[in-house]
Amino acid sequence: KNIAIFASGAGSNAQKIIDHFRHSDLARVSLILCNKPGAGVLQIAERENIPAVIIDKTAFFNSDTYIKVLQEAHTDLVVLAGFLWKVPANLVQAYPNKIINIHPALLPKYGGKGMYGHFVHEAVVAAGDKESGITIHFVNEKYDDGETILQERCEVTSTDTPESVAKKVQALEHRWFPVIVERLLSEK
Ligand code: GRF
Repeated sequence: KNIAIFASGAGSNAQKIIDHFRHSDLARVSLILCNKPGAGVLQIAERENIPAVIIDKTAFFNSDTYIKVLQEAHTDLVVLAGFLWKVPANLVQAYPNKIINIHPALLPKYGGKGMYGHFVHEAVVAAGDKESGITIHFVNEKYDDGETILQERCEVTSTDTPESVAKKVQALEHRWFPVIVERLLSEK
C-alpha cells in the first residue's frame, strides 16, 4: 500500500510514520508533498530517498494537478501531518475516507483555521483546561471537521505551560499516528 504525506513543517510525524513502515511489507511512504520550500520535512524526504513535491498554491486550489500526482503514485492513503492548508473539495472527493489528519487538541475544541501548533496549547493553558490531547480524523471539505478516528488524552496541570503541553501532545502524536495509519491500511 502507498502512503502519501502532506506536511508544511518539521515533519516529525512524517518521520515517525516513515520509521514505522521501514521494514513493513504492508505499506510504505511513497510520496511527500509540501507547501513550504525549505521545510524540515523536505530534508527528511531527501534523507529517506522519498520523492517530494513542492505544491504550487494556484494549481492546488484550482486544478486536478495533485490528484493526478497522487494517482500516479498509486496512493492508497493520504496523511496530513502538519499540513496548514485546507484540502480542496475535488481532492477530498477523489479520496473519500482516504484522507486523515492529526490535530493537536481534543476536537471540536480548538479546531478550525489558524488553530494549530503553539496557538492551540496556549489556548488550552489560558482556558485552564485539565486535559488536552490529539484527534485523528477523516478529512472532509471543512477544517478539522471529519469523522473522528481516535482521540488520546493527556493531563494538563496548573504548572503546565504551552511548551510542556506541546511536548505531551507531540508524544501522543508520535505514539498513535503510525498505529492508526497501519490499522486503516490493514482494513482496506
Ligand atoms: C503537529 O502539532 C500536528 O498535530 C499538527 O501539525 C504539527 C505537525 O508537526 N497537525 P510535525 O511537522 O509533524 O513535527
